[in-house]
Amino acid sequence: MNKIAVSSFKGGTAKTSTSLHIGAALAKFHKQKVLLIDFDAQANLTTGLGFDPDAQDSMAPVLQGTKKIEEVIVATEIPNLFLIPADTWLERVEVTGILAGDRYSHEKLKEILRPLPFDTIIIDTPPSLCWLTESALIAAQHSLVCATPEFYSVKGLQRLSLFLENIGQRHPLQVLGVALSFWNPRGKSNDTFLEVIESTFPQKVLNSKIRRDVSVSESSVFGKPVFETAPKSRAAQDYLELAEEILARMNECKAALQEPAYV
Ligand SMILES: Nc1ncnc2c1ncn2[C@@H]1O[C@H](COP(=O)(O)OP(=O)(O)OP(=O)(O)O)[C@@H](O)[C@H]1O
Ligand SMILES: [Mg+2]
Repeated sequence: MNKIAVSSFKGGTAKTSTSLHIGAALAKFHKQKVLLIDFDAQANLTTGLGFDPDAQDSMAPVLQGTKKIEEVIVATEIPNLFLIPADTWLERVEVTGILAGDRYSHEKLKEILRPLPFDTIIIDTPPSLCWLTESALIAAQHSLVCATPEFYSVKGLQRLSLFLENIGQRHPLQVLGVALSFWNPRGKSNDTFLEVIESTFPQKVLNSKIRRDVSVSESSVFGKPVFETAPKSRAAQDYLELAEEILARMNECKAALQEPAYV
């Protein structure tokens, strides 16, 4: 089972849009059974798939031991694509209930996900270095880093790289790649941005870049991925290519990682 934590410590780097579309592409075009976990109290992934966060349970009661994970998984409109929604209870969940006194609380998500029957699990994280982000990175064996071609975005990657390295010393975690969104193929500073990313994450920049396309924000209004709302759009094409590249990288990593027997 592939588990990917999608992260960046910066807001607005398209983490949620990337999680949603990679998940949808793997389910729709690669016949994978995919679980998306909205692990951000903002619940944008949840609303982006047409669900009302206030009407659904999140991972919070599962982490607190009051619900089973199977009870909080919902089926989306896309066959084979499932979601665990988010709600505001996720915010600071680690300081309440049984998690408050648990020194190893950030390893709880990893244990919970272990027996699930999915090909790929994608965890969308908040734009900060909080307990939720750390738990997601510990639970995953792959991290997908999101960035935009902006100075503060690429500079912030250095901090993220140190954090990932630190987690990687305790848990097997590989950076799958750096996904760039809001890409302008004719941007004057593209080479500079790519050099900075390359120096922080050598050979990790993914070739497929997601260009700016209004169909991404429009699709979230409909609660569906662009593959449903604008299948001929630039974004649909870019996300499809990105999903293929990510799939290839995961397959390359699989051999190297020597996954345990339960998968
Ligand atoms: N390629 C794109 N073209 C145009 N708009 C986009 C693109 N990708 C994402 N967006 C829009 O940009 C906004 C931010 O994207 P998104 O929510 O995916 O970022 P995020 O990193 O998850 O943000 P946060 O840090 O708040 O969680 C959203 O309104 C989304 O619809
Ligand atoms: Mg988000």
